[in-house]
Amino acid sequence: MMTRLIQALRGSGDQSAPGYGRVLQPGIDLSHKVILYLDDITVSFDGFKALNKLTLEVDAGELRCVIGPNGAGKTTMMDVITGKTRPDAGTAFFGQTIDLTRLTEPQIAHAGIGRKFQKPTVFERHSAFENLELAMKADKRVRRTLSARLASEERDRIAATLETVALGEAADRLAGLLSHGQKQWLEIGMLLMQEPQLLLLDEPVAGMTDAETERTAELFTSLAGAHSLIVVEHDMDFVSRIARTVTVLHEGGVLAEGPMDAVQNDPRVIEVYLGR
Ligand SMILES: Nc1ncnc2c1ncn2[C@@H]1O[C@H](COP(=O)(O)OP(=O)(O)OP(=O)(O)O)[C@@H](O)[C@H]1O
Ligand SMILES: [Mg+2]
Repeated sequence: MMTRLIQALRGSGDQSAPGYGRVLQPGIDLSHKVILYLDDITVSFDGFKALNKLTLEVDAGELRCVIGPNGAGKTTMMDVITGKTRPDAGTAFFGQTIDLTRLTEPQIAHAGIGRKFQKPTVFERHSAFENLELAMKADKRVRRTLSARLASEERDRIAATLETVALGEAADRLAGLLSHGQKQWLEIGMLLMQEPQLLLLDEPVAGMTDAETERTAELFTSLAGAHSLIVVEHDMDFVSRIARTVTVLHEGGVLAEGPMDAVQNDPRVIEVYLGR
């Protein structure tokens, strides 16, 4: 049973089981402060350009928000970064040296990019603590060094991560009994166990209560710096709460970029949102 779950966690090619890869810190060259560099990325689906010469640069430690109307290409952009979709043209680099267009999904996860899909995929019949334990065990390197009993160091790391994602009190609760928001946090905790450099979060606060949304804003703000985050969200209150730089996508390209208030007052952005 446990083995199957670990295999499920490892099988990152499978959409139903996201890949929790481990970061290879020394492999990422951040000498130019840029953690993600997309240049002229185009993705066509039967002639329709979901991404059309998209160019985007994210600095290490940044918390970047990406907004834009339905169909703008936000999720497709994340698919390209994580290797789920191959661009027809363009360049995608992680740090200075890692060419994402040449890596498979598991290799990208392993290189240090973690992705959270909208629907939480936690192991409902396991406790919050066990979920993080499983996420950690999906890491082959940790697994090799672990004996039958979880080393106290690992237990401390799990406990600390549970605190980070506001589940310190819920460590022993079955994941299936957690609220929707808590499940989302648990999945973020599972990603964090792999120490990703870059976290991609697609509509993370959808379906959350106001209090959960607020707590998530605090969480993301606290993760920035040590991690880089790209957050796609339609909830503008949430975005204005956490945003430093906001990128507006429209028809597969960047329409505007800058501080939230500047972007919100940009006539082109207003037109795109009101025109729908
Ligand atoms: N696999 C696919 N095959 C064909 N068309 C696709 C595919 N994936 C996405 N598209 C199209 O590409 C466009 C961009 O979709 P995408 O999901 O990236 O938008 P989005 O900005 O994430 O929108 P939303 O805010 O609704 O989630 C849409 O018109 C969508 O229908
Ligand atoms: Mg989307």
